[in-house]
Amino acid sequence: MDPRRNPYAPGAGAPPPELAGRDALIERAAIALDRIRSGRHDKSMILVGLRGVGKTVLLNRVQLDAEERGIHGMRLEAPEDRSLPGILAPAMRAALLKLDRARAATAVGKKAMRALAGFAGSMKIKYGDVEVGLEVEPEKGLADSGDLDVDLTYLLVAVGEAAQERSTAFAVFVDELQYVEENQLASLITALHRCAQKQLPITLFGAGLPQIVGQTGRAKSYAERLFDFPEVGALEDAAARLALTVPAEKEGVIFESAALDEILAQTEGYPYFLQEWGKNAWSVAASSPITAEHVRVATVHALADLDASFFRVRFDRLTPAEKSYLRAMAALGPGPHRSGDIAQELGRKVTSLGPARSALIAKGMVYSPDHGDTAFTVPLFDQFMKRMMPAGRR
Ligand SMILES: Nc1ncnc2c1ncn2[C@@H]1O[C@H](COP(=O)(O)OP(=O)(O)OP(=O)(O)O)[C@@H](O)[C@H]1O
Ligand SMILES: [Mg+2]
Repeated sequence: MDPRRNPYAPGAGAPPPELAGRDALIERAAIALDRIRSGRHDKSMILVGLRGVGKTVLLNRVQLDAEERGIHGMRLEAPEDRSLPGILAPAMRAALLKLDRARAATAVGKKAMRALAGFAGSMKIKYGDVEVGLEVEPEKGLADSGDLDVDLTYLLVAVGEAAQERSTAFAVFVDELQYVEENQLASLITALHRCAQKQLPITLFGAGLPQIVGQTGRAKSYAERLFDFPEVGALEDAAARLALTVPAEKEGVIFESAALDEILAQTEGYPYFLQEWGKNAWSVAASSPITAEHVRVATVHALADLDASFFRVRFDRLTPAEKSYLRAMAALGPGPHRSGDIAQELGRKVTSLGPARSALIAKGMVYSPDHGDTAFTVPLFDQFMKRMMPAGRR
């Protein structure tokens, strides 16, 4: 069918044509943000889920909705190799300028900007990657101690006060939160905790891989009282069907129910895969309706597309030792797997595999759902590993 009208959107952070099955979560986030704006207590939220389940698009959606309701926000994506102050400072500057534009800058607003200047100045010495031009002079003693805990607290308190003065809330949206180093994460939690105690309308809205739950708990034992960790997973049957049928119907195209059954079986309801199968089924079919036979052909193309992109980008970042670890996991099935079983599969000792496993966790490829267990963070990665390394286990 006409490729120009193909509605599906496989891609990291690509807004889906139909954001299916997430209404309850979107509403829950909106309630939390509105409560915080009105000075009431609510927990910060961290969306937790595997690769490709739709965390980024949800985060973006919550931010857009919040901004429409007059809540201010700033968006960060934690990369693997930069400090939290390094990514935070420039984004905070832009957000504060916007907050000031909303209403003429007041003393409180200026104080927030000066706190940022102090923060950026002191953190630049500690983390080489803090680059931000600021139009105000720092104020001595304001967020410039050089201790991230203290300075970030000063900064977020000052920003929270500026938001409060403007009767709004300020939300810090952080994607890929698992990549923030644990001691920097601890400082962020400390600062948010202080703001919550002062009932300031500032909060965190995060998203990360499953390891983020353990990381925040290790960083600060009281984290569970500050955060909710709603799980974002594969879509339930009805929602998965809607993710496919609603966009098609807008274009006057329907799916036979056997075609939908086949896509659900192949994708297990994972959002990224639904988009990939939808897109390919659309290309294969010459006209409506899309049939199960179309889907069977589309499966070959969808897997080829995934192998060349979604899976491939992750595979290419692995060392040979990491590849063989994942290949051994794949040989055992989808998982989770016991460390002992993986070691046995490789004919190695558990302890000798510790470094490879840790590196895979740091890269966000695997996580530990329970002590001694290891699972893939990428859905269906076991099948991909078998396609990539058909024979070899070592
Ligand atoms: N609720 C949904 N319904 C239909 N499609 C969705 C839904 N959520 C996400 N998608 C689609 O799934 C794909 C992945 O979304 P997204 O990039 O937000 O996932 P993610 O969880 O952030 O993945 P990663 O961990 O790799 O960053 C996109 O193509 C998006 O359009
Ligand atoms: Mg994402």
